[in-house]
Amino acid sequence: MSGLILVTGGTGKTGRNLLMQLQQAGVPCRAASRHGVPSFDWVQPATWDAALEGVASVYLVAPPTVNNPYDLMQDFIASAMRKGVRRFVFLSMAGLPAGGPAHGQVHQWLKDNSDDWAVLCPSAFMQNFSQGHYLATIREEDRIYSNTGMGRVPFIDVNDIAAAALAVLTAPARQNTEFVLTGDESMSYDRVAELIGQSCGRRISHIPVSNDEMAERLIKRGLPPATARFLAFGYATIAAGMADRTTDAVRTLTGRPPATFQTFAEANADVWKRVGG
Ligand SMILES: NC(=O)c1ccc[n+]([C@@H]2O[C@H](COP(=O)([O-])OP(=O)(O)OC[C@H]3O[C@@H](n4cnc5c(N)ncnc54)[C@H](OP(=O)(O)O)[C@@H]3O)[C@@H](O)[C@H]2O)c1
Repeated sequence: MSGLILVTGGTGKTGRNLLMQLQQAGVPCRAASRHGVPSFDWVQPATWDAALEGVASVYLVAPPTVNNPYDLMQDFIASAMRKGVRRFVFLSMAGLPAGGPAHGQVHQWLKDNSDDWAVLCPSAFMQNFSQGHYLATIREEDRIYSNTGMGRVPFIDVNDIAAAALAVLTAPARQNTEFVLTGDESMSYDRVAELIGQSCGRRISHIPVSNDEMAERLIKRGLPPATARFLAFGYATIAAGMADRTTDAVRTLTGRPPATFQTFAEANADVWKRVGG
């Protein structure tokens, strides 16, 4: 479908990458975030209309810093529909079904109320280690703290999520379905620590912590307590082996295989350099 694409979370891991890929493909797009011009803020509905002006499709990212943003997101989508937006592509997460908690509420709402939608359900991002909440302790302590135990995850590169989003946003046909996006290889956080260690030339350790300690760590990194506890619960499902499942969706949507963790780690060696060293 053609027309202007609004990318919410436009300064975030997938949004920034998607904007780059849309620009390279010559697709008209607009970034939406509190740091954009005009500024877009999920919790300030007065900022929504300017962002939606002339928009045909929206990429929806639930803001991790807002406690329970799901009702707000439904109001935003309804308002976008009234302004003529036709297509919605929502970033949910693997393991969260339509009608389930959190993102599952927006997924179900789209199913019930939109006739041109897609939901992307990615596994955990590789970039959590290079831009996200694991980065500081890798740099400062040579440690990754998690409550994932020996559970394995098919980590995905946000570049592949953005490529899948681009494919779905610009597809001539409507999708009206969900896509579970994963990398090709499941691995434990012990293995992640080993690969990051090999790329940056230091021994990096994976330190197991309890679910409560994981939530506390996320709160200290600025997440609202409810979001932190929800994420810690999600990580506990990894420990229970529930995330260890790969799919072909990245290949199907983008025509190429997903990036490997090894390639990601080699490309990011400099990011993990010791602070001051
Ligand atoms: N990380 C993972 O492994 C993973 C896995 C599966 C699914 N997900 C989902 O991916 C989504 C993004 O998570 P992330 O951690 O990767 O974050 P992110 O997209 O890197 O960053 C969050 C984005 O939200 C924007 N934002 C935050 N508060 C906002 C507000 N009040 N109004 C407007 N924009 C706001 C931020 O922009 P400004 O600060 O510029 O406003 C930023 O662009 C979440 O819904 C998460 O559940 C993440």
